[in-house]
Amino acid sequence: MPNPSLLILPGDGIGPEVMAEVRKVIDWYGAKRDLAFDVSEDLVGGAAYDAHGTPLTDATMAKAQEADAVLLGAVGGPKYDVLDFSVKPERGLLRLRKEMDLFANLRPAQCFDALADFSSLKKDVVAGLDIMIVRELTSGIYFGEPRGIIEEGNERVGINTQRYTESEIDRVARSAFELAMRRGKKLCSMEKANVMESGVLWREVVTEVGKDYPEVELSHMYADAGAMQLCRWPKQFDVIVTDNLFGDLLSDAAAMLTGSLGMLPSASLGKPMANGRPKALYEPVHGSAPDIAGQGKANPIACILSFAMALRYSFDCGDEATRLEDAVEKVLADGFRTADLLGEEGVDPVSTSQMGDAVVAALDASL
Ligand code: IPM
Ligand code: MG
Repeated sequence: MPNPSLLILPGDGIGPEVMAEVRKVIDWYGAKRDLAFDVSEDLVGGAAYDAHGTPLTDATMAKAQEADAVLLGAVGGPKYDVLDFSVKPERGLLRLRKEMDLFANLRPAQCFDALADFSSLKKDVVAGLDIMIVRELTSGIYFGEPRGIIEEGNERVGINTQRYTESEIDRVARSAFELAMRRGKKLCSMEKANVMESGVLWREVVTEVGKDYPEVELSHMYADAGAMQLCRWPKQFDVIVTDNLFGDLLSDAAAMLTGSLGMLPSASLGKPMANGRPKALYEPVHGSAPDIAGQGKANPIACILSFAMALRYSFDCGDEATRLEDAVEKVLADGFRTADLLGEEGVDPVSTSQMGDAVVAALDASL
């Protein structure tokens, strides 16, 4: 059997730096666990625009469709703010999501014990937090038509459309129920059924799907109340399922509960391919952080944990994923901190590559 293929798209800003650390981890699995990947690398976002005038070439899109999994760093940066909307770095990422049909975006928010003090919330509110947000990723207001900026009378009008079909809601709801079954068997669905028809339909379809999962305790919340509850007492949640835009907002809020955006991975999953693996793209939740790019300050853990999610969801190596997550936990417990995690007395930051090396050393120690 050929090695599974992994397409790496480091992207912009801190993307390449954090991805370099993931490469060390990938190499470790090849050398020490007999788990070798056929790795190729390509451009996305601003980097692709600089080289080719488009944030994602058709050739790269085709490679992504072929790969067993895609690992992406980050896209975007102030340099590209002036570009036309159609070629902005973000369009590259959105094209990948849409054309690979990655409808279920899994965003775990887990608070590592060693970092409970870093949250802006009180320690007892976040210690031990372990929730999973499932964000719909290929539809809703991000993609709905009509859209655009039009002239109307003597002024311009900006238009975006929130649109969800029953089948789009059904499939992401099923992914969320399946996850809930493997976790705490609680699912909270968030929308704005009080003001949006798409929210009314969302609630109906999720309720209907819930009949197939009688063991899962299903609740519904308006997304604004959900945001409030996430900050008030996040541990009431197990799995949250929500639409594309609410999921974007709620997952950033949930991420920050854990102390740093530099810690959180994500998996975007689609339908199974011919080989049974789901179409999949893994990426850290953090962005390209242009303010610290190129300085060795970035935290590579979110990207490393995204590779752990790939081991679990694409390559059926849950044990190895846990090994990597445990290695990260150990490194944090041992006091390694990148600059985003400072605040304790007398702790000097480690660099991006020192953090990567520490994770690899912890992997070695796990054998
Ligand atoms: C995210 C990001 C993206 C989004 C941007 C970069 C297009 O914020 O993945 O959460 O809005 O989905
Ligand atoms: Mg976002």
